[in-house]
Amino acid sequence: MKNLKENKRVSIAIDGPSGAGKTSMARKIAEKLGFLYVDTGAIYRTVALRVLNSGVDPADGAAVTALLPEIQVKPVYEADGVQHMYLNQKDVTDEIRTPEVSMAASRVAAYPGVRVFLLETQRKMAKEYNVVMDGRDIGTVVLPDADVKIFLTASAEERAWRRTLQLDQEGMPRPYSEVLDDLRKRDYNDSHRAVAPLRQADDAILLDTTHMTFSESETALYKIIWEKTGVGEPPEDEKPGAEYEPIFRDGVNLENINKNINLDINAQESKENGEET
Ligand code: DC
Repeated sequence: MKNLKENKRVSIAIDGPSGAGKTSMARKIAEKLGFLYVDTGAIYRTVALRVLNSGVDPADGAAVTALLPEIQVKPVYEADGVQHMYLNQKDVTDEIRTPEVSMAASRVAAYPGVRVFLLETQRKMAKEYNVVMDGRDIGTVVLPDADVKIFLTASAEERAWRRTLQLDQEGMPRPYSEVLDDLRKRDYNDSHRAVAPLRQADDAILLDTTHMTFSESETALYKIIWEKTGVGEPPEDEKPGAEYEPIFRDGVNLENINKNINLDINAQESKENGEET
């Protein structure tokens, strides 16, 4: 376990592809730890909304970059604890959640000018608060010294399936094949751009939730954070007297997955201490 200096801000970086459950998971963990949850995707979406509203083609990098001086993006935390996004003083929290904005955000996020424009806003939040921050380049670029880095992923099919169910529940049904297609396009855009592409940081812990339920993923995530930082309550199975009970799903022993994650942490810490692994 790391020794955190007193008064030092703690930052937890969660990166991964679209639809991996970063947002729901990061929000839940932040709430549990009393940390600020920072959804950086929402910041890119806000820029994309302005681009679309201005009639600028998101594929036109020069035109998008020229628009930046007119854009004021501000994350605001209101009494409901939700991160509201303000675009030039207007609350656009709901407007940025359309499939059109999702695709445009993935396009505009590839431009170096846009990334530089938004970098300080993100870093400042981590300087001022304990944060759980999710995105694509948090562990690699925005917070390279984050206390915990997690790369949260799942297969494209599983992510598309979860998203399809969610859209259905929200009364905005879309065919699975369309959702999967969009997801693959965004995966491609996000991981093939020249600047700050989506990739797992060398010191990030991989958490693949393809075969896990939400609650199992949450437990695994919470456990990683506790092992690395000691913040929060010990996970149930670390409390004295806790019964050992392996969790099985789809024939996979998730307890072993958790053990592997712990091994990774130990390997990383040994590396940091200059020990052989
Ligand atoms: O997480 P999201 O789907 O709300 O993000 C929308 C887009 O923003 C995503 O396709 C890529 C971009 N993004 C990024 O490039 N870097 C981040 N840190 C967060 C999001």
